[in-house]
Amino acid sequence: MRRLVAETSVEPRHLVLPVFVADGIDAPQPISSMPGVVQHTVESLRTAAAEAVGAGVGGIMLFGVPKPEDKDGVGSGADDPDGILNRALRTLRDDLGDTTVLMADTCLDEFTDHGHCGVLDDHGRVDNDASVERYVSMAVAQAQAGAHLLGPSGMMDGQVGAIRAGLDGAGFLDTGILAYTAKYASAFYGPFREAVASTLQGDRRTYQQDTANRGEAMRELELDLAEGADIVMVKPAMSYLDIVRDVANVVDVPVAAYQISGEYAMITAAAERGWIDRDAAIVESVTSIRRAGASIVLTYWATELATRLL
Ligand code: PBG
Repeated sequence: MRRLVAETSVEPRHLVLPVFVADGIDAPQPISSMPGVVQHTVESLRTAAAEAVGAGVGGIMLFGVPKPEDKDGVGSGADDPDGILNRALRTLRDDLGDTTVLMADTCLDEFTDHGHCGVLDDHGRVDNDASVERYVSMAVAQAQAGAHLLGPSGMMDGQVGAIRAGLDGAGFLDTGILAYTAKYASAFYGPFREAVASTLQGDRRTYQQDTANRGEAMRELELDLAEGADIVMVKPAMSYLDIVRDVANVVDVPVAAYQISGEYAMITAAAERGWIDRDAAIVESVTSIRRAGASIVLTYWATELATRLL
């Protein structure tokens, strides 16, 4: 009876698997704060991607981890066609074709030696407009490498419009934009910093949103839609379900939410101690994000959950 009347469902196609691919390693590297998640080699990524597609996930989101010595002030590895992320995109697109939506993180933080999402000005502050120029170059390189959908996650003003214009100008009319619309400066990104070997000192509060703000998310939303976002995202998910609902109530584009590294780590750690039922907590958390209004959920459990749902 409950199944018959359930209002919310989670299907494999709703789930997107975020993955990390690292340069200069010859075997997958565990991420200690995200048990079960690894930095992949390109080869192990191919296997993980094939499994995800086999389980029916809706998409795969790639993050690149360059060698430490390849990081620099402007994140040169990001738009280098031979940079780790672009190489991995090309390989996966060759393998998978159009069987899933191949997504790329369009952000500089993994590639800069200071770990910020943009380039810095003479005072060491993130320079919005100079950063956006770098994103455009990165976006075109990712589209060339075969990404179907780009995820600008740097929260620079004007990033969606500039990337849209850059893609169109380079002939990538069909490459879409998954805009990180309301991305909050969150303590729950902690494990991700380990996952991408981030060098960041300090925080991102000058460009990511303040936890206290709800109306601001609506202003960010209006801008992203006007600039041409195809899908809008709220992140993190579980501490921001009210924002997911606010956004879902007013938009007519699909809404995504990202169950981030810290959310994964919390549930995993509590389950390891036997304090909560892992499998039930995974289903409950993802269902709650869907119930809040997300049609798409990025989660590190995507393949596992999709397999369970098959
Ligand atoms: C920035 C980016 C971050 C995440 C996704 N894209 C880190 C940040 O903003 O500090 C976090 C994802 C996660 O925590 O799972 N490229």
